[in-house]
Amino acid sequence: MALVTTTEMFKKAYEGGYAIGAFNVNNMEIVQGITEACAENKAPVILQVSAGARKYANHTYLVKLVEAALIENDIPIALHLDHGADFEICKSCIDGGFTSVMIDASSESFEDNIKITKEVIKVAHPLGVSVEAELGTIGDIKEDSGNREIGSKEIIFTKPEDAKKFVEETGCDTLAIAIGTAHGIYPKDFVPHLEQELLTEIKNTVSIPLVLHGGSANPDSEIAEAVKRGVNKINISSDIKDAFYQQLRKTLGN
Ligand code: G3H
Ligand code: ZN
Repeated sequence: MALVTTTEMFKKAYEGGYAIGAFNVNNMEIVQGITEACAENKAPVILQVSAGARKYANHTYLVKLVEAALIENDIPIALHLDHGADFEICKSCIDGGFTSVMIDASSESFEDNIKITKEVIKVAHPLGVSVEAELGTIGDIKEDSGNREIGSKEIIFTKPEDAKKFVEETGCDTLAIAIGTAHGIYPKDFVPHLEQELLTEIKNTVSIPLVLHGGSANPDSEIAEAVKRGVNKINISSDIKDAFYQQLRKTLGN
């Protein structure tokens, strides 16, 4: 099977009221682990690559790993750029065979976020590449000598009225929203709180799939509730890396 775009995947998920798992990949073992698990569950999957992973593993190596996974597993797989910081990296991934990109101009002003997102859409859509955008700010976790604490990035919750205007003006395919999650594994004993009511309000103002970033380490019940209320893509990165490194340490220690 060839790489697919996310269009068909999201159409089914939106109509069926479920979410697609989007997992960050940066090496062979993680690509294998995710795609084998998805094949066992007959689940479509989005494999996503950050700028850091692209720098570490090289664009071509990552594309070829994903192509190998397509040969080995009979499931729909989309290849997505995660948190593309500017037009250039999005364009490079579009030209380099990705079927979906995220332009994350959420740290810019509302107007500039719209402008930059539109520029990416202008080159992506004619080639059938889907575009995810972000509005609001996801939190972050700082890790210092193994101690985790809530980072300095303040969560700026997405405003429903802004989401409506943003989606209408840009024509983005999916929208990442901030409802209380943070990127990374939360500090011990910290229980994240997701603003589920806010999610419902946003869902009622836009008619495109919503994306939940910072999916790792949230209680399953919160994730399930978010899906019930309209999230169609769940991003998971840290949980996978954590599992990989823990097992690696165990194996090397034996
Ligand atoms: O963009 C990637 C995700 O939002 C992953 O967040 O590391 O908390 O799972 P996470
Ligand atoms: Zn993210």
